[in-house]
Order: sequence, then C-alpha cells, then structure tokens
Amino acid sequence: MKTLIAYSSKTGNTRKVGEAVLKAFPQGEIVDISDVTAVNDYDLVVVGTWIDKGTADTKALRFIDTIEGKRVAYFFTLGAYPDSKHAEDCITAIDKLFTDKGNEIVGRFHCQGAIDPKLIAWMSELPEKHPHSPNPERLKRWEDASKHPNEEDFDNACNTFTEILAGL
Ligand SMILES: Cc1cc2nc3c(=O)[nH]c(=O)nc-3n(C[C@H](O)[C@H](O)[C@H](O)COP(=O)(O)O)c2cc1C
Repeated sequence: MKTLIAYSSKTGNTRKVGEAVLKAFPQGEIVDISDVTAVNDYDLVVVGTWIDKGTADTKALRFIDTIEGKRVAYFFTLGAYPDSKHAEDCITAIDKLFTDKGNEIVGRFHCQGAIDPKLIAWMSELPEKHPHSPNPERLKRWEDASKHPNEEDFDNACNTFTEILAGL
C-alpha cells in the first residue's frame, strides 16, 4: 500500500514519531507537511501533527483541509497526558476535520511530547490565577512531558500502525 506520512513538527517530537511510524509501512514515504505535492498518488495518507490550542497545528489544519474522500490515519503529540480528557477532545476535534471532508479514518495514535522550553519559560512567568500558570500539578505534567516521545512511544507508534496496516 503506497503510503504518505506527512508530518508537521515545530520542535521535532512529531517528526520523530513519524519516523517510527514509517517503519510500519514497507511502501511508506515520509515528507514534511510543507513539502507535500501529490496526495492523490497515495493509497493511504497518514498525517502527523502537534497539538496547538486543542487541535491540529495551523500547518496541519491547512493540509488536512486539502484531503478529500481518502483513506487516512493520523498521529499527534501533545503536552497533556495521553489518557486525559484534553487528549480525548483533541481526537474528537481532529476526527471531525477528516470526516467533514468525507475521508475514512483507519487509525490513530498519540503520545506526550516535550513542551517547547520557550513556552515553559513564558508560562512560568504567568500570574497565579492564570489557567496555564505553574502549580504543582502542571509542573509535574511539564516535567513528565519533557521525557517524551521516548523509545516506548516509538515502539507503540510503530506497532499501532503495523496493526492498522494488517487490518486493511
Ligand atoms: C504554542 C503551543 C501551543 C500548544 N498547545 C497545546 C495544547 O493546546 N495542548 C497540549 O496538550 N499541548 C500543547 N502544546 C504542546 C505541544 O503540542 C507538544 O509539546 C508537542 O509534542 C510539540 O510537538 P513538536 O515537537 O512536533 O513541535 C503546545 C505547544 C506550543 C508551542
């Protein structure tokens, strides 16, 4: 199955997960989302995005908008915990982007990804009452995120897409 893995990554987390996903596809190609030219040449399009304000980042949003009536899958990295309500809401939001355009989603994967130190520095200065200001729970989450994606995430990503491909 000719597969395109198109990723958008600001600080490298999503690109690294994309490289692990590539291992699942013998006929796979990985391309930075900005360099994709011919989506229709592929049987399956796998989109990788980082989460920005609860949904796909701007570049991925723009790319997804160009995909119509195709077999697709996607993966994302996020600062929140993978089993959080926030992650679930991201899945709902991204699913809708694809299904609104008549695409068939055959699989998905997500894991935590280290948050850009510049954003951490900015959030660290926020006033106490701000929803992103540091508190013990957030500091722990940022610290946990800083260890991802790790080897286990890469294995999980590759295994998830190996199973998806086997089921097609
Ligand atoms: C501007 C900005 C906004 C972000 N918004 C969210 C968010 O809404 N939810 C979340 O869980 N993580 C958020 N993150 C964290 C990133 O999604 C996460 O660190 C991701 O792994 C970055 O991937 P990349 O290295 O491929 O760019 C945000 C990060 C940045 C820089």
